[in-house]
Amino acid sequence: MSRRGLTAAFAGLALAGLVAAAALHPGPARSQAAPAPAEPQLVARGAYLTAAGDCQACHTAPGGQPFAGGLPVKTPFGTIVSANITPGGIGDWTPDQFYRALHQGVDDEGKHLYPAFPYNYYTLLTRADSDAIFAYLKTLPASSNHPNRDQLPFPFNIRFFVRFWNMLFLKEGPFQPNPGKSAEWNRGAYLVEALGHCQACHTPSNFLGGPKRGQAFRGGAFPGWFAPDLTPNRRTGLGSWSRADLIEFLKTGRNAHAQASGEMGEVVADSTSHLTDADLDAIATYVTDRPASPAVQVKAPEPAVMRQGEAIFVDSCSACHRMDGRGTPRFFPPLVGDANLQQRDPTTILRFIEGGVATTPTPSAPTPLAMPAYGWKLTDDQVAAVATFVRNSWGNAAPPVSVGQAAKVRKALTFGPGPTGAAQQHGRLAHPGPETWSTPNTMSSDNGGANAGRAAPAGSGAGNGGSSQGHPAGVTAGGPG
Ligand code: HEC
Ligand code: HEC
Ligand code: HEC
Repeated sequence: MSRRGLTAAFAGLALAGLVAAAALHPGPARSQAAPAPAEPQLVARGAYLTAAGDCQACHTAPGGQPFAGGLPVKTPFGTIVSANITPGGIGDWTPDQFYRALHQGVDDEGKHLYPAFPYNYYTLLTRADSDAIFAYLKTLPASSNHPNRDQLPFPFNIRFFVRFWNMLFLKEGPFQPNPGKSAEWNRGAYLVEALGHCQACHTPSNFLGGPKRGQAFRGGAFPGWFAPDLTPNRRTGLGSWSRADLIEFLKTGRNAHAQASGEMGEVVADSTSHLTDADLDAIATYVTDRPASPAVQVKAPEPAVMRQGEAIFVDSCSACHRMDGRGTPRFFPPLVGDANLQQRDPTTILRFIEGGVATTPTPSAPTPLAMPAYGWKLTDDQVAAVATFVRNSWGNAAPPVSVGQAAKVRKALTFGPGPTGAAQQHGRLAHPGPETWSTPNTMSSDNGGANAGRAAPAGSGAGNGGSSQGHPAGVTAGGPG
């Protein structure tokens, strides 16, 4: 999982090399006798809070035992591996030590943890909630997994340096309610800011990887992704969503406007879909109570690029998203007025087009829906053109996508198996497999329809802007795929 915490971790470490300040290393927290078995109520509350904190997403390796850690997080500096937080990993910790880990980002021995673990948000947790989570984690089956977590090369392996990052970006909690707001608003703020750590992805970061607090929720980049603007901006944010739309999205992973996949799909499946209706209401109250991000003037794209993009859209995309871009809400998302599509940074959209994407199923919306990968059949130039077209048609407006941006995303997707998402995307890019509904000699325009899988007429070059295609050997050049 390429979570934004990484950027933060490494920027912080890089900074540490430059800053020469001295402060005391926190000593180990005093150990206590193991507590008596926790009451079922406390454990149940802990399970709920653990879901709200999405701890499982990072603490589970692909195919591994939940919470047993070992998920490798690759970065240009090395790999940070998540910890085993079953009793096999933190079984002899005290509740004090556990609270201190969430609150200050240090382990049982007082060693600094990297901010790839988002303790700069969990610091806002109350002591009571930390104790409940700990009580729940203690009931999990113990795993003996001991992933090698110190795989960073010198000098990034010096955990002590994280202190300098903390000096700049760790504002210690716990959460202080805002007395000028309702109890519901404050509950929402606690869920979003502390447990949900939504800002870790949805807020832009500065050059040191710390959140730009003045631009909270205006959309943020993290390796391979761009998490969209969540302010009430009508074009790029949630301005055209109703409260009910937001609640439906967080509960089921879809609504009339959008569908959750990839990183957000995991957030919905593992976390927000488990929340009570009252808590989802509270989140909606908090998230919608902020000013809209400023409107940005957008330069109109070149007419020739729009014509090239339109031809590709008609051939490859309109079967699902329809000629008028209205799609079939909750199945094939509408592109008209789609906020995610109109972000300043097109990374997420480019990875969907090049690598394919599947809507994450949730218990209340279990139907799997997928969009095939186009990276293997469209060149960077064609991907840029179709992305520019959909970002600027039917009233949409967003900066044109450059060939360089399409190439950069392609390179990251083909980088090879790494964090979960990247590994899946890698397979899809190499050859569209069953999960993408598209196989090399079939008509992509049939995808999602009754004729899906129909063989492509030999030598037809339907659409795709008439440009030559750069897909791998073994696929007929010019074939519509
Ligand atoms: C974004 C990914 C991510 C999320 C979400 C996350 N963690 Fe972690 N966590 C990590 C990583 C990575 C480490 C290892 C950090 C290191 O080695 O410096 C870690 C380390 C820890 C540790 C230290 C364990 C040890 O043996 O040192 C604890 C405790 C912990 N996490 C608990 C939690 C809890 C509880 C939650 C949910 C409330 C949570 N984590 C959510 C990524 C995450
Ligand atoms: C690990 C990073 C990450 C975290 C944490 C995260 N999100 Fe997201 N979110 C994304 C990405 C990436 C997208 C765009 C992809 C998608 O919609 O499938 C997204 C999309 C969304 C959307 C849809 C917006 C649109 O215009 O389509 C909403 C709403 C949303 N997130 C709300 C939240 C809330 C509320 C939280 C906290 C509870 C949260 N997110 C936490 C990464 C994240
Ligand atoms: C087989 C049907 C199908 C075809 C063909 C298809 N898509 Fe999609 N598309 C989907 C589905 C399903 C999703 C929702 C995936 C998700 O984000 O959960 C989607 C999502 C998207 C999104 C993201 C919307 C959002 O808000 O997150 C964009 C942009 C998009 N498609 C553009 C295209 C383009 C451009 C093409 C042609 C090159 C195309 N699609 C072809 C089914 C299709």
